[in-house]
Amino acid sequence: MTLLSGPLAVSDLHTTNGTRRNSTLICAPVMAESVDQMLVQMGKAREVGADLVEIRLDFLKNFSPIQDLEILIKHSPLPTLFTYRPAWEGGQYKGDDNKRQDALRLAMELGADYIDVELQVAHDFYNSIQGEKPEKVKIIVSSHNYQKTPSTEEIGDLVARIQATGADIVKIATTALDITDSARVFQVLVHSQVPMIGLVMGRRAGVVSAPGQPTVKDLLDLYNFRFIGLDTKVHGVIGNPIGHSKSPHLYNAAFKSINFNGIYLPLLVDSVANFINTYNSPDFVGYSFTIPHKEAGLKCCDEIDPKAKEIGAVNCMIRRPTDGKLIGYNVDYLGAIAAIEEGLRALNGSSNTSGSLLAEKGARVVVANRTYDKAKALADKVGGEAITLAELENFHPEDGMVLANTTSVGMKPRTDQTPISKKALKHYSLVFDAIYTPKWTRLLQEAQESGAAVVFGTEMLLNQAFVQIENFSGVPAPKQLIRDVLARNT
Ligand SMILES: NC(=O)c1ccc[n+]([C@@H]2O[C@H](COP(=O)([O-])OP(=O)(O)OC[C@H]3O[C@@H](n4cnc5c(N)ncnc54)[C@H](OP(=O)(O)O)[C@@H]3O)[C@@H](O)[C@H]2O)c1
Repeated sequence: MTLLSGPLAVSDLHTTNGTRRNSTLICAPVMAESVDQMLVQMGKAREVGADLVEIRLDFLKNFSPIQDLEILIKHSPLPTLFTYRPAWEGGQYKGDDNKRQDALRLAMELGADYIDVELQVAHDFYNSIQGEKPEKVKIIVSSHNYQKTPSTEEIGDLVARIQATGADIVKIATTALDITDSARVFQVLVHSQVPMIGLVMGRRAGVVSAPGQPTVKDLLDLYNFRFIGLDTKVHGVIGNPIGHSKSPHLYNAAFKSINFNGIYLPLLVDSVANFINTYNSPDFVGYSFTIPHKEAGLKCCDEIDPKAKEIGAVNCMIRRPTDGKLIGYNVDYLGAIAAIEEGLRALNGSSNTSGSLLAEKGARVVVANRTYDKAKALADKVGGEAITLAELENFHPEDGMVLANTTSVGMKPRTDQTPISKKALKHYSLVFDAIYTPKWTRLLQEAQESGAAVVFGTEMLLNQAFVQIENFSGVPAPKQLIRDVLARNT
């Protein structure tokens, strides 16, 4: 994640949208082998809404400083930051360091807005300019750690060393080995007395769902970056892996549409307990839980809703504003019931008799599982009967039954699998599959071919998202908008 604190001059930037709730600038890195390609990328950066471009001179082939810098500065549609990263600091430049620093000095003289100088050579660089620099230019002194994120004290010491060079802006980039590493950089950032860029790199840094950094488009469109303020409440989905999750798309769009001051992040978490203990401030207010952390989530709650306790897993956790306690819920079952009820209503025309029957638990429940003991335990809990998966094949005490698959059989990548034979499906009038990747599982395809109505796993996903969004925001979820966002993202 990239964060920039401190009083930067937002006023002299090209803003496409007047409303901002923070002064943090979004910088798009430009890495190309030719000046022409860079100019194209700079145009794109402006189009997507970046505030400035970081021109990575070390990527240019046949770089000719006087000519190229003049063109880049003159034709840039956005304020410019010049970086000429040497190999010893993780960049591409392998040549003489004096020449490298000469180019940065030249960029400064030709009208760059920012230049980036590595901490290791910052003193030399400042000595070489003898305090003479154009008023406009700001010098960022940077330090990169590609191995790890040091302790808060060590990061604090580093900031002090950078400040001592005379830097206008401090930049610290570290590597996240765990999502909790970002918290240490947050801690230093919030206490920084100078403008500071804190960058935690890697898949586990927190905000990103893929290695590296979020795109400008994702920052602006998915995370509503301009609307994030000091009072924005943080939510997210805790899982591992998490990159595939559609939830950030659904929740962020919903929050924006109902004007709710919250953000919802994909959180790649190894240890739920470490995560919950680290991010314990009142800003972190709500989480969804997905595979494999629903049971671990339960153990981190201060209080558990009776239904979640009965199920033995949470998929929703909320920090109670009055006392900060974490309350765990399970709303998966509400999503599944709502989806099946809707399916039954559609099947029975306007009558919702069957749906209400289900809601009132008047339905006869039969649990089939490959592990019979587990089926028996669940059946005993809900007052139903248990059978084995093999018995399910010839199980048809009556016609017009509802089948709900809540196993992962048939889920991507094993889409050729199905939990029950096509022959056995003819006894069902409605088949629901909790799986939503793919939408059309083999089970649902065969159910439709057998004449049954089908209910997609996406309906459960949507219905439980509606409940969670209402729990997080306190207002009704914009259901149609969320449906549309899911349709656009599948
Ligand atoms: N649509 C939604 O919103 C939503 C929400 C949550 C979950 N889901 C989906 O629901 C499915 C189950 O999720 P979960 O978290 O409940 O998973 P889970 O706790 O791992 O449950 C898996 C169940 O599937 C059974 N199972 C697994 N592999 C099997 C196999 N090869 N043959 C027969 N049975 C098998 C297990 O039987 P044993 O007890 O014998 O191990 C267990 O009962 C997943 O596909 C998940 O994506 C969807």
